[in-house]
Amino acid sequence: MLRTIIAAALFPFAVSAAFAQDADAGKRVFNKCVACHAIGPGAANKVGPELNGLIGRKAGSVVGYNYSDANKNSGIVWTEQEFAAYIRDPKAVVKGTKMAFAGLKNDKEIADLTAFLKACAVGGKTP
Ligand code: HEC
Repeated sequence: MLRTIIAAALFPFAVSAAFAQDADAGKRVFNKCVACHAIGPGAANKVGPELNGLIGRKAGSVVGYNYSDANKNSGIVWTEQEFAAYIRDPKAVVKGTKMAFAGLKNDKEIADLTAFLKACAVGGKTP
């Protein structure tokens, strides 16, 4: 506990990036995805698959979306950790993916985006 307080005093940004996930901020980060991905009630596949219920979902599992073999055969389950690694550098985690996105490099943005995606359940309930 004392260690956490000291760390928080010394590295406020690092601590917030590691622990605080803000779904509202994540909704804004998702603006970087909307050109290709829909989420929420009635979300349909666009350039990329719809992302409702992503956290906990198996890679390549949206019915009716034409995935690359690289994605479909990746064996990934989108846990928070897998998603964080992927969205930082998609092509490094899924070699040969057709997702043309350079990646998010900011830890806080990744944490917030993860919180938003977690809150977007199967069926499209959004925060
Ligand atoms: C330029 C279009 C584009 C952008 C921008 C984009 N994506 Fe994608 N995304 C795709 C495509 C295309 C795929 C399918 C990849 C494949 O089949 O190889 C995909 C796949 C994914 C997958 C795997 C889904 C599954 O069902 O296995 C996730 C997760 C994902 N994108 C998240 C995001 C997030 C979050 C953002 C925003 C930070 C984002 N993408 C931005 C095009 C995009």
